[in-house]
Amino acid sequence: MKKIGILFGKERTFPEAFIERVNSKNIDGITAEPVHIDKVIQGEPCGYSVIIDRISQDVPFYRAFLKNAALTGTAVINNPFWWSADEKFFNNCLATKINVPVPKTVILPSYDLPTDTTGESFSNLAYPLDWESIFNYIGFPAYMKPFAGGGWKNVYKLNDKEDFYAKHNETGQLVMLLQEEIVFEEYYRCYCIGGKHVRIMPYEPRNPHHLRYVAGFTPGAEKLKEMEDIVLRINKYLGYDFNTVELALRDGVPYAIDFCNPAPDADRNSVGEENFAWVVETAAGYAIEKAQSNEEGKDNLTWGEYVKRSADKVSLID
Ligand SMILES: Nc1ncnc2c1ncn2[C@@H]1O[C@H](COP(=O)(O)OP(=O)(O)O)[C@@H](O)[C@H]1O
Ligand SMILES: [Mg+2]
Repeated sequence: MKKIGILFGKERTFPEAFIERVNSKNIDGITAEPVHIDKVIQGEPCGYSVIIDRISQDVPFYRAFLKNAALTGTAVINNPFWWSADEKFFNNCLATKINVPVPKTVILPSYDLPTDTTGESFSNLAYPLDWESIFNYIGFPAYMKPFAGGGWKNVYKLNDKEDFYAKHNETGQLVMLLQEEIVFEEYYRCYCIGGKHVRIMPYEPRNPHHLRYVAGFTPGAEKLKEMEDIVLRINKYLGYDFNTVELALRDGVPYAIDFCNPAPDADRNSVGEENFAWVVETAAGYAIEKAQSNEEGKDNLTWGEYVKRSADKVSLID
């Protein structure tokens, strides 16, 4: 029997529906359940062919468990090694090299010194930074947000440099991105599963939370294709099996805004019934595919083109 497990936190709609969907397909030799852990021993397999990870970003113990699971043959969705290495600034940097339009972006040292450092720890950093060049490059209004994080936490829209200075000193030890605002006509949130299944969901971030997926955008076939290509390219390079990409259209050009969401919101109450049904069905199908192709004891992870091409020392794009 090949077991598919799901590792999750407070979520209550997606994990249950996912397990139910896999099991209701009644596929010979495949079963799904919540991951159960009562000990973690180095080098020993955990008993799951596939684990969908929805929570290790908040639980370092789980991240370590998943790396050991991956080493011993589990296909962990998403790759815990890449997820540990990745953050939003690198994603934007990579986008600039693979022809994905992104807002102009810089990264800033944290306002407060990291714990256990003093001013003397920063021999390499100019003080002050070259703020004028930074502001000229980004322009105002601008967005400021953590380089790692999600859920709209600590996301600021800034009107001018006085606003920037006032808000930056509220951000403590967070490392922030400062980013050009994309003034968009339309906005989409796109699931990408298995590096091949894409669902483009009109999304209106300016609506209150419960109405964000009620957005009247109706892209034509050509625009849908263009967005799908961008979503696929991003995920192929990052190597995520399960991710969302947010695209903001300015003058018709899709800019990737937020595409480091390896445990994307899949709650029935926020994404709505139809999107929920799609994500449950597609995740179940993909997890089954990964379980069936799992080679015991081998590396069954997905690795992105960035890592593969770097290891092979070949250029990033053909
Ligand atoms: N550069 C930007 N231009 C326009 N809107 C932005 C920009 N960055 C963020 N936003 C808005 O802020 C929201 C939250 O930012 P996002 O980058 O998605 O962070 P999170 O990972 O917290 O969801 C986005 O959904 C979008 O509405
Ligand atoms: Mg977002």
